[in-house]
Amino acid sequence: MSTVPKGDYDGIRAEVKKILKRPGYDDGSIGPVLVRLAWHASGTYSAKEKNGGSNGAGMRFAPEASDGANAGLEHAREFIDPIHKANPWISYADLWTLAGATAVEAMGGPKIPWKPGRTDFQSEVAATEYRGNIDNRLPDAALGAQHIRDIFYRMGFNDQEIVALSGAHNLGRCHSDRSGFDGPWVVNPIRFSNQYFKLLLTRKWVPRQWDGPFQYEAIVAGTRLMMLPTDIALIEDPEFRPWVEKYAADQQLLFKDFAAAFGKLLELGVDRDGTGVAHLVKGGGCPFAA
Ligand code: HEM
Repeated sequence: MSTVPKGDYDGIRAEVKKILKRPGYDDGSIGPVLVRLAWHASGTYSAKEKNGGSNGAGMRFAPEASDGANAGLEHAREFIDPIHKANPWISYADLWTLAGATAVEAMGGPKIPWKPGRTDFQSEVAATEYRGNIDNRLPDAALGAQHIRDIFYRMGFNDQEIVALSGAHNLGRCHSDRSGFDGPWVVNPIRFSNQYFKLLLTRKWVPRQWDGPFQYEAIVAGTRLMMLPTDIALIEDPEFRPWVEKYAADQQLLFKDFAAAFGKLLELGVDRDGTGVAHLVKGGGCPFAA
């Protein structure tokens, strides 16, 4: 791990790219779990309550670290930690979000707009006091369209952005020892593309007969692929489905819309002052409203 000059975020991007390949781990890359870390760090935001979001990197502490929805993300945090050790000038909150953005790009996806300036909570007490209660803010894969809307509308996303963001399930896999679900969504889960949307529309997804939680499956090119109930909700819901069709037909459109929506996700709750610093204030929202 190299030390890069303070403020050299492209240097950090290069460090992240160096550690992505990991033979023997999942499908040979830690990219997908880094994308999930960036998303779960950011996806606790509430536009109404003006708290949650990536600023503070609260997932270093309980209760966020031990939230069942974040099971497995300790691996992502451990993978990325050496970069922080070598470059303690970058905040964890910036590092996690930048790593997710970099991973998407390195796996063949679009360049994600990203800005620095996040600060870290200094302790669990600070995280709890300043952030407020942000329990149960992440989606439950066993539920349907109404739940997806409740979760993502709370963050300030619309139906089109929800479907675009779901394109991240082109990456990585479910782990029975983390979420309980099992398997990848696509045949090559370390390459960002619109395959996930194509497969949603063209395969016959049937309930998997097994002891685990209810999920769908289809065998594609000899590989058992999966869909979560929330993934299938995207083709069953009349407002979501047209966007699935658009993204299945047009990868360029997906890349453009995914970059915008993922960039927006990483910015939620990050309110910078005139010098570009996002301070941590009670509630985690705008410093001038505190
Ligand atoms: C993995 C649920 C939205 C990115 C997973 C897993 C579940 C899940 C259950 C498996 C975790 C494991 O067992 O390791 C959901 C639900 C969503 C949603 C219910 C919304 C309704 C998103 C969004 C993104 C995302 C918006 C990013 C923009 C990922 C990635 C993985 C993943 C990259 C693979 C992680 C790995 O390979 O370790 N998701 N997710 N998900 N999710 Fe989502």
